Amino acid sequence: MLEMQRGGAGRWWLAALLMGGLWGCSGTEGPGNGGDAGVVDPGPDELPCDVKAVVAERCASCHTTPLKGYAPLALLARSDFQKPSPVHAQQSLGQRSLERMGNAASPMPPSSEPPLPDEARAVLTQWMEAGMPAGTCGSVPSGPAPTTCASDSFWSEASGTGATMAPGYACRSCHLQQSPNNAYFFMGTVFPSLHVADGCDPRLGSPSNVKVEILDAQGAVRLTLVPNEAGNFMSNTLQSPFPMPYRVRLVGPTGRSREMATPQTNGDCNSCHTEQGTGQTPGRIALP
Ligand code: HEC
Ligand code: HEC
Ligand code: HEC
Repeated sequence: MLEMQRGGAGRWWLAALLMGGLWGCSGTEGPGNGGDAGVVDPGPDELPCDVKAVVAERCASCHTTPLKGYAPLALLARSDFQKPSPVHAQQSLGQRSLERMGNAASPMPPSSEPPLPDEARAVLTQWMEAGMPAGTCGSVPSGPAPTTCASDSFWSEASGTGATMAPGYACRSCHLQQSPNNAYFFMGTVFPSLHVADGCDPRLGSPSNVKVEILDAQGAVRLTLVPNEAGNFMSNTLQSPFPMPYRVRLVGPTGRSREMATPQTNGDCNSCHTEQGTGQTPGRIALP
């Protein structure tokens, strides 16, 4: 039955209706879509359990509510996958997922994340090719994103204290306790991607080409901090040289930039930009 393919682009819902009964009596998770034949209704919103588990582990760390990791939309329920893609309106997001999972140049999950294991890929592919039948499995927990460390090299206290210490940890909070003379107002770490582990050596390719511009409330650049090879950057005064709040523009080696739109008053960047990001924070301060 799984060899059955969709009839053609744009007809996934028809396939879903046809497949519904088959799935229902095949012993696969879930009772099928249960909808009346001919009704173009998304039907039950639940994902089958095996699909849900893969989505929770591999997609929902970004495609969740609230959105994380710069993802443009949530992919939690079956109806989310049935919506048209905002970029390719003639295709559903399920079809786009299928296409992007196999797109080496622009993969999903993005290349900053560990690649999708073969079994996980097979589960999603079969479900999408079968027209995305419904299942029952409770709500999707949006699990934490897998943590990465591309360099496989970690800072340790033995590797020394100083400007390259403890990449990713909340610098100023610790310094206020343990090294107040070095508790500079703006301190943090730039990483190559969003979910890099605490202490991982980011090995920034060309550190001097990255700039952390600290803007005042009017948007004027007040400080330009350059991360060192450990990704760490810091200002050189214990208080901010201009009144709060501040914003940030991060300019990467290619000249592309990312701005922190929300004004902040705490200069200890890594206290919010943790492995997973606290609250609405997307994760690390990641190169644009
Ligand atoms: C680290 C965060 C992250 C993870 C994990 C992730 N995505 Fe994405 N996804 C994004 C971002 C960012 C975009 C928008 C930019 C882009 O399209 O590349 C996106 C876009 C998409 C789109 C819209 C593409 C289009 O052309 O309409 C789909 C579909 C998608 N992702 C599916 C998935 C699926 C399926 C998974 C899991 C197998 C997944 N993503 C995992 C961040 C993520
Ligand atoms: C868990 C506590 C802790 C954390 C987290 C921490 N530091 Fe430190 N740091 C210290 C201590 C303690 C010293 C003083 C060590 C000494 O004087 O030998 C210090 C000293 C320094 C110094 C001065 C070195 C010198 O030669 O005078 C710099 C610069 C520095 N840290 C940068 C950072 C940066 C950047 C971060 C965040 C990425 C950070 N630290 C995170 C505890 C910490
Ligand atoms: C109190 C928590 C908090 C602190 C402290 C903080 N940030 Fe952020 N940052 C956020 C949140 C939330 C976002 C996402 C919303 C936004 O862009 O405003 C963000 C986004 C960003 C972005 C843009 C990411 C994107 O959306 O493309 C950059 C760059 C950034 N922060 C850099 C910094 C730097 C540098 C510092 C320290 C000088 C800092 N942040 C301190 C919470 C924080």
